[in-house]
Amino acid sequence: MRQADDDFTELMNAAKKASRQAYCPYSKFPVGAAVLTRDGSIFSGCNVENASFGLTICAERNATFHAVASGKTDIQVVAIYTPTATPTAPCGACRQVLNEFGPSARVLSFCDGPEVIRLTVAELLPRAFGPSNLNE
Ligand code: THU
Repeated sequence: MRQADDDFTELMNAAKKASRQAYCPYSKFPVGAAVLTRDGSIFSGCNVENASFGLTICAERNATFHAVASGKTDIQVVAIYTPTATPTAPCGACRQVLNEFGPSARVLSFCDGPEVIRLTVAELLPRAFGPSNLNE
């Protein structure tokens, strides 16, 4: 699947909307993410922090788990929004989780500035460890 970014307006809007639900009293760094699954469904998520810091979950993983909990395990596109001047790429843990459900998914990180990061999960996590390693 290869589409123009314009086609992802709905996905990007979902990511932006999700960022408004971010629970981030400690970092004050809201993040919203939305994933597009193979059947055309969109699932979103925000970061949710915790007083014990280490239990914080990122927006990307929340969106991914939202999709999986709805029975959708084939992610094709991921949009990530931060209300910042430059876009934010997913953290290492989120790259690993995205690799499980969308190893060739496109990732679009956007923000309030003009820059957009356009990469694939494979580019963000080269030579990934994944499900196929366990099936050899
Ligand atoms: N965070 C995300 O939700 N996604 C990212 O890609 C980077 C970091 C969150 C975790 C934490 O709540 C805050 O941003 C600061 O690290």
